[in-house]
Amino acid sequence: MQVMIDGNAVEVEPGTTLLEAIRGSGGEVASLCYDERMDPFGACRVCMVGVEGAPGPLPSCTTLCREGMEISTTDETALRVAGAVVELVLSELPEAPGEHTELAAVAKQLNVTKTRWTGAVHEKDEDLRHPYLAFRHELCISCGRCVRACDEVQGAFALTVTGRGFSSNVAAGVDSGFAESSCVSCGACADTCPTDAIVELRLLELAIERNGSGE
Ligand code: SF4
Ligand code: FES
Repeated sequence: MQVMIDGNAVEVEPGTTLLEAIRGSGGEVASLCYDERMDPFGACRVCMVGVEGAPGPLPSCTTLCREGMEISTTDETALRVAGAVVELVLSELPEAPGEHTELAAVAKQLNVTKTRWTGAVHEKDEDLRHPYLAFRHELCISCGRCVRACDEVQGAFALTVTGRGFSSNVAAGVDSGFAESSCVSCGACADTCPTDAIVELRLLELAIERNGSGE
């Protein structure tokens, strides 16, 4: 089938998402809860695009292409929504994300340099009980990528999302920590985490040695 992306005709297979079509044709759209190694989840609303005839922007990672669809990656409303989501996420973190993180890259991509909101901020809450992985809960943005990596990539089912809204976070086991959970130390969670909330302990220690902080 054929879709139009920013005015250019693109051939796609049935079942292709808008995000796959855009990136597959060399275009770009920001995303945060998406990881191509896993099924799309549609949790963050950062990958918004405009679609001709739709009542508002649509999440490109979970929306499938339809014949003749006209997609805009520069739709002003879509970019405004995506930027506002990232601003809100940043406003809840106790510190700016490390420059090397995916969250920092997405903020840059959407030109989000500061946040207008000064609401509640997550308090420091580190779990350092695992021999190889550090979990800094205060940096978790509840994107769910680690949970899906654990389930879909590794099949270990060690992680779950807990709470809702601002209180939402990720727990290992029955909140007994990684060390007591069914974690097999594969590191898939740390590999996909866009904020370094879960990070290999060795890398965190190296960063602290180098900079005096985990950034
Ligand atoms: S720990 Fe990282 S990957 Fe897991 S939900 Fe939080 S931010 Fe997302
Ligand atoms: S990347 Fe599409 S909703 Fe999060």
